Amino acid sequence: MEDYKHFLLLFTLALALGFASIASALTWALRYREGLGWDGGAAEFNWHPLLMVIGFIFLQGIAIVVYRLPWTWRCSKQMMKLIHAGLNVLAFFLAVISVVAVFDFHNAKNIPNMYSLHSWIGLAAVILYPAQIVIGIAVYLIPVTPVYVRAALMPIHIYSGLFIFTSGIATALMGITEKLIFSLKSPGYKDSPPEAVLVNVLGLLIVAFGGLVLWIATRPSWKRPKEGDAQTVSYNSSSPGNVKMARTDQESSLEARRRNGKAEESG
Ligand code: HEM
Repeated sequence: MEDYKHFLLLFTLALALGFASIASALTWALRYREGLGWDGGAAEFNWHPLLMVIGFIFLQGIAIVVYRLPWTWRCSKQMMKLIHAGLNVLAFFLAVISVVAVFDFHNAKNIPNMYSLHSWIGLAAVILYPAQIVIGIAVYLIPVTPVYVRAALMPIHIYSGLFIFTSGIATALMGITEKLIFSLKSPGYKDSPPEAVLVNVLGLLIVAFGGLVLWIATRPSWKRPKEGDAQTVSYNSSSPGNVKMARTDQESSLEARRRNGKAEESG
């Protein structure tokens, strides 16, 4: 891999930001709000931001970059597809529980549902997500779709995945702001009490995590080598910067690329 140290630095930073986001969301619920519970009250609502940060932001972000981890390049592509799909399915289940929690809370307290821009964009993202997962599994995991169809759909799969992920980040920022405005009364949000500062920091962490995921996912030189090359990658663990293909493999790869045209982008 070109510039392995640079990749490792950014990936480690992304992980640290992701864990810090989860820790901040948990601290928010446990220290400043009513904790966590499932009783139709505020403690039930608190699952909503926590599970969204864990699932829709963190797990989905890791699922997006999982193919780029050089130490996974020896695993078969099929195995990596299963991990990618599995992380996304898990993130989706957490998102569903999170949305159930907020609807339950609204219904128990007679608060209207689906009135805010946050809820409109959030629900749209939560509906698009399983569509993306089901189409992804049908086209790329079940080995019946012709290679040219996979290749043709790959740019759409990548675009829609990044679109849903960034919509999730925008939705989380709106939700965070709404919740602070609703719940901080005296002192209010504008007085910057410690809770508001913590939660503003949570928003910054989410944006920085998302920015790094998008950067890592859009570097062509950090892409996983295609199947034949991945199996012959020489990964020298004593000097991790030296992840590279044997020269003959690189040559045969170039030759195969010429032969296959765009097929290598077929997922
Ligand atoms: C990132 C993904 C998120 C998605 C997809 C999402 C989705 C939703 C949906 C669909 C609702 C409507 C529920 C109803 O009307 O009964 C909702 C409500 C709500 N969410 Fe989120 N949410 C996300 C993150 C967050 C976060 C991080 C917070 C921070 C506290 C939050 C705060 C709220 C609040 C206060 C409501 C109730 C008011 C309203 O309907 O706007 N959300 N969310």
